[in-house]
Amino acid sequence: MRVVSGIQPTGNLHLGNYLGAIRQWIAMQDAMGTEDTCLFFLADLHALTQPVVAAELAANTIEMAATLLACGIDPDRSILFNQARVPAHAELAWLLGGTARIGWLNRMTQWKDKAGKNREGQSVGLFTYPVLQAADVLAYQATHVPVGDDQKQHLELARDIAAKFNTDFGVELFTQPEPFISAAAPRIMSLRDGTAKMSKSDPSDASRINLIDDDDLIAQKLRKARTDSDPLPETMKELEGRPEATNLVTIYAALAGRAPADVLVEFAGQGFGQFKPVLADMAVSVLCPIRTRLTELLGDRGAVAATLESGANRARALAAPTLLAAQQAIGLQV
Ligand code: TYM
Repeated sequence: MRVVSGIQPTGNLHLGNYLGAIRQWIAMQDAMGTEDTCLFFLADLHALTQPVVAAELAANTIEMAATLLACGIDPDRSILFNQARVPAHAELAWLLGGTARIGWLNRMTQWKDKAGKNREGQSVGLFTYPVLQAADVLAYQATHVPVGDDQKQHLELARDIAAKFNTDFGVELFTQPEPFISAAAPRIMSLRDGTAKMSKSDPSDASRINLIDDDDLIAQKLRKARTDSDPLPETMKELEGRPEATNLVTIYAALAGRAPADVLVEFAGQGFGQFKPVLADMAVSVLCPIRTRLTELLGDRGAVAATLESGANRARALAAPTLLAAQQAIGLQV
């Protein structure tokens, strides 16, 4: 089993990232056998697809790495690095650019959403972003890619690129990566709008819980979270059509490691005035220890940078044979 996943080092890690992806990363790391390898990276090259402030990108990369360590990524068991320090990602992305089709990229919903009506004004990187993402996983022959539901389409594209490359060049080179999507929290929604996903790019900070938010801010954001005025029902079926209520129940269940139906059995009949403080206590009990560890880790940014450096060395060695095989398959003189 080869587990590979990444996160953009833009803004803060939020509860959607944590419940949708990072917790799966840690579960896979913890379940891993001696033959398995987990690679987790800061997708700093992907961050270039949006306007960049250089000093912020560098600082965000260290802070996001520290956050992953605080969440439980263990550099003795997993390889943690930043993408830019492993040139195979960008090199392989260029090679795969000959395989991927413009029509495939045009169908990517994230491209359509982010570009909106102004396609001509977007960076080339925003359009070719999924090809780099394919290279990220194919370079390591990833078998499992733990991601939130919003990345599923990008992973399907990576599978299509892998299959076409293998066919076009008559090789059995690339392994088909399987997206591994959390059943408990495939898509955590905004606290302000139950139909929009919780996201770093939402201009309203009240829409998300950041892992650096203090206990009072977590409680305040949950208290102000948009809801309806009905009490919680007894079954999940009765929650249909109530996206904000569904989201809060999902968050509670994911934090508590329980099934949403089971949570409803306990809280049926209660209004949000009662449920929200219980949810806030649950969120604080999970996030407060992470924040404490993060503060400690940020006291020594040099140590975090050294962890990334040694991770990059290990990742470079793992990516090298696949990059070479791809170059040879294509007929490059290397
Ligand atoms: P990014 O940085 O937007 O998000 C990191 C991870 O968090 C998940 N996620 C969510 N899950 C549930 N609910 C949400 N509201 C939510 N918001 C974000 C994302 O699905 C993701 O798993 N393109 C990727 C980074 C990337 C990558 C890769 C991932 C680059 N290369 C290769 C996997 C494999 C991205 O921008 O994720």
